[in-house]
Amino acid sequence: MSPEPLPSFDDDPCVGRTVLTESQLAERITELGRELTEAYRGERPLLVCVLRGAYAFLTDLSRCIDLPLEIDFIAVSSYGASTRTSGVVRLVKDLDVDLTGRHVVLVEDIVDTGLTLRYLRRSLEARNPASLEVCTLLARESADLEGLGVRYVGFTIPGEFVIGYGLDVDERYRNMRHIAVYDDPAV
Ligand code: IMP
Ligand code: MG
Repeated sequence: MSPEPLPSFDDDPCVGRTVLTESQLAERITELGRELTEAYRGERPLLVCVLRGAYAFLTDLSRCIDLPLEIDFIAVSSYGASTRTSGVVRLVKDLDVDLTGRHVVLVEDIVDTGLTLRYLRRSLEARNPASLEVCTLLARESADLEGLGVRYVGFTIPGEFVIGYGLDVDERYRNMRHIAVYDDPAV
């Protein structure tokens, strides 16, 4: 029996220029995993995945961390079905784990305006974790990472809307293995 074909987006006109290839992603995530392994040696960190965009990153990152760890999921929504932020962050699914005394790493897909992150930080800090750090796969060049207290960043990218590797437009393209610019047919 031949294996199932991998999802192909080759003929999709909305999939634009490649921003990050599968191997660039894998290489950088391996490095981030090593950094986190060193930073949390002797601890049992809790990785909090921000659904849904960070699911692919969390999956690969967690497997590059050579420590006992736990994962939990939180879901927020700020975009609805568009590529523009609505300016309002809404908690869609809360954590199951108690954060008290835990070393928490918030795992994000992309920090754009920082609105989502500010909301999440406030919400999680109020639960008395022993520590709280942010690890984001992508950050906009324009994002104030220092002000937002983002410790770990995979890649800094320009302003274009991107898709793939967990990132979506209206729930599409999350299963694409690389990250590409979204060529909006409406523009
Ligand atoms: P922020 O609140 O403006 O920082 O936006 C953060 C959230 O918006 C991310 O967690 C993503 O879900 C979404 N987002 C921002 N930019 C993009 C993009 O280029 N592609 C897909 N999702 C994005
Ligand atoms: Mg999203």
